[in-house]
Amino acid sequence: MPDGTAKRVIGKTAERIVSAQAFDEDARIEASVRPKRLDEYIGQKRVKENIQIAIEAARSRGEALDHVLLYGPPGLGKTTLAQIIANELQVPIKTSAGPLLERKGDLTAILTSLETKEVFFLDEIHRLQPAVEEVLYPAMEDFRVDLIIGQGPGARIHPFQLGHFTLIGATTRAGLITAPLRSRFGIVHRLDFYEPADLLIIIRRSAKILNIEMDEAGAEEIARRCRGTPRIANRLLRRARDFAEVRAAGRITQAVAQEALAMLGVDEQGLDEVDRNLMLALLDKYGGGPVGVGTLAAALSEEEDAIEEIYEPYLMQIGMIDRTPRGRMATPRAYEYFGRDLPRRQPRLF
Ligand code: ADE
Repeated sequence: MPDGTAKRVIGKTAERIVSAQAFDEDARIEASVRPKRLDEYIGQKRVKENIQIAIEAARSRGEALDHVLLYGPPGLGKTTLAQIIANELQVPIKTSAGPLLERKGDLTAILTSLETKEVFFLDEIHRLQPAVEEVLYPAMEDFRVDLIIGQGPGARIHPFQLGHFTLIGATTRAGLITAPLRSRFGIVHRLDFYEPADLLIIIRRSAKILNIEMDEAGAEEIARRCRGTPRIANRLLRRARDFAEVRAAGRITQAVAQEALAMLGVDEQGLDEVDRNLMLALLDKYGGGPVGVGTLAAALSEEEDAIEEIYEPYLMQIGMIDRTPRGRMATPRAYEYFGRDLPRRQPRLF
């Protein structure tokens, strides 16, 4: 993350070119290409419109914005949107992440330092320890924290009044947010994978800021292979530029983008080796499923969290995997894409 807070990188994805998780290089580049205003933020139309109205209403009333929960797959711009919201509200922003707040005191220290109307961006909010999460409830609802003064039997609880701040929580796993936490957010939005036309605008915009020479077909090729994710689009753009500079006089054309991305193991759908291994395990080892996510994770030596948070959302989006109550299943599209024959349906016995 750009402010230097350590972010957990899950799974074997640390080195993966199409991982949506942020690497250090991404953080540096993202800071330079990241839009600062809502009208520069491409795509996510419905979310943007709703947030625009909430910001204007809060500003005109002179009040803090209601607490906001943003959820959706990694790399789609939750952090960017939080920074834009603070910028549009013309208030400061403090940033942390669930796993960094190990003790109640870590969170209390941040909350008591917030100015009125300040934004507190809390990434990976689903990873808060339960005891730490409980500190958030009165803070969000009554702008109060309970300070404990002293120790042992003589300890006393001291209610401490906070300024009216805005919490922006972000998570890749909305399903893991507890009901009491979720119910305290007044504004809840899901970010979706981006449309190709929006990705094209983002890629062109980044190329311009980073002074990268690229033609339209080159941009389209990157847009096709970036899994609907701006962070990946920006990363592929930089790798294609490296390739273009070394092998092709510095200009990203369609052929240059295709060669550069093929060399990185990224196929026409944006799938990489990990995705392919996952799909092939599902198709070949487990007969197309249904198979539990734990079994798949073990077969790939991956973490379950990484499968659920990172690989699956896009594979489901492009219709390769179905999540069913009995487990994961390959779709007919997956059989076709990987050149496998569709199994004939078992005759019904009853
Ligand atoms: N960079 C990352 N996400 C973006 C977005 N939604 N609009 C513009 N640039 C971006």
